[in-house]
Amino acid sequence: MQQAVKETAFAKINLYLEVTGKRPNGYHDLVTVMQSVSLCDSLMLRRLPQEGIVLLGEGTLPMDESNLAHRAARAYFAESGAPFGVEITLEKHIPMAAGMGGGSADAAAVLRGLNRLDGNRFSAAELCRVAERIGADVPFCVLGGTGLCRGIGEVIRPLENRLSGSVVVAIGHAGVSTPEAFRALDAAHNDFKNAPPERTPKELIAALSMGDAKAAAPHFHNMFEAVVEPMRPEVTRWKDIMCAGGADVAMMSGSGPSVFGLFSDTNAAAQARDALLAAGARAFLCQMV
Ligand code: C5P
Repeated sequence: MQQAVKETAFAKINLYLEVTGKRPNGYHDLVTVMQSVSLCDSLMLRRLPQEGIVLLGEGTLPMDESNLAHRAARAYFAESGAPFGVEITLEKHIPMAAGMGGGSADAAAVLRGLNRLDGNRFSAAELCRVAERIGADVPFCVLGGTGLCRGIGEVIRPLENRLSGSVVVAIGHAGVSTPEAFRALDAAHNDFKNAPPERTPKELIAALSMGDAKAAAPHFHNMFEAVVEPMRPEVTRWKDIMCAGGADVAMMSGSGPSVFGLFSDTNAAAQARDALLAAGARAFLCQMV
């Protein structure tokens, strides 16, 4: 039996995001294409001799029961019915309140890591069912890669993505709360009372499978941009710097305010990252994974 495992929690970006309705419980139906990127947190999970969940880590994030990583461990043991002691050390690199699913990625990594320590008790599909209870983006983060997600995010169809090149991520110093971004969207769309029927982003999906960045670019879309960009003017600045630096496309991710740019040319991507850092952004160079 393994005593310790290391897990990598990849951030996600949304290549497409359209909210299509609002449920009576306040959650939103959406259609989104999610993509894992190599910007990541690292987690080490170690078995402890006595029962209990110990979460360790540095930074501003509270390492208590409110942390999604802790919630994930509780949800895992509730499902297995066979809890064991675990110490989870979390090393954070993914910006928080950024629209990059950092908390969801950590939660998913905890589920995968506990499952490995537990002799792979659950299949990936079963782990996704546990993930659903923790947060809307957690099931995608369990699987990673590229996925067309529906429902509140938990209905996932894996997609092929042959785009190559680099991703630059930029974010200022003020985050955005996801529930607040959804409220702003509700206000702008009359609570989605007359939402148009759901559509599948077929052109984008075809261009991804062909690895054609130029064909894909016009079909990138994020409904949150229209409401979050006016609240966070730096979103426009980061997008402009990326486009001036040769990005095929630059767009806000999720509920923002992080911005990503796709670059066919890695040198251009590195230069754009440097230009963003010089302009005061937190900026990262990474790949789709
Ligand atoms: O599920 P998660 O904790 O990631 O969601 C954070 C918040 O975002 C929820 O409390 C909800 O307000 C909003 N949300 C939503 N519809 C979704 C996903 C999230 O309204 N599909």
